[in-house]
Amino acid sequence: MPPSTSSDLTLSVNGEKYTLTVDHRTTLLDALRERLDLTGTKKGCDQGQCGACTVLVDGRRAVSCLQLAVAAEGREITTIEGVAEGDQLHPVQQAFLDLDGFQCGYCTPGQICSAVAVIEEHAAGWPSAATDDIRPEAGPPPLTPEEIRERMSGNLCRCGAYVSIVQAVARAAETKGAAA
Ligand code: FES
Ligand code: FES
Repeated sequence: MPPSTSSDLTLSVNGEKYTLTVDHRTTLLDALRERLDLTGTKKGCDQGQCGACTVLVDGRRAVSCLQLAVAAEGREITTIEGVAEGDQLHPVQQAFLDLDGFQCGYCTPGQICSAVAVIEEHAAGWPSAATDDIRPEAGPPPLTPEEIRERMSGNLCRCGAYVSIVQAVARAAETKGAAA
């Protein structure tokens, strides 16, 4: 008998468990959109270049078009549908709304998921390519527009909403800092 080309797996997405059978070649992006009907995550390039498909896997950013669904079993996946707390928007979502951080909205789910992780990464002291002092004892650098642009550089927006996006990420980071 030829080896099976599909597997049963359970994905944990936004706190819910989903059991499904997938072809081994199915990407996490296609599993989310086509099988679980979680269409908030967008397919832009399907090649890891645009960031539209960004989701959080165990709290870290991942381009879901480059990850196989079978490799996501046992991980906690958060999509744009799971970012808000019930009716309470995430500070990043609120800041995008308040500051017009989107225009067409196609890239927005990925931008928001990325920004959520960027703020956590920065608060944890992770340096970026724009960080001058990368010694661990230096702590998080100021979250300047350059830092935000560098950290968000994997997310492309054809509409050119970048100025507002940078402002929204800065606003959300401040809001989160004030709430901490
Ligand atoms: S669709 Fe995944 S990076 Fe573009
Ligand atoms: S708002 Fe991002 S591509 Fe249009």
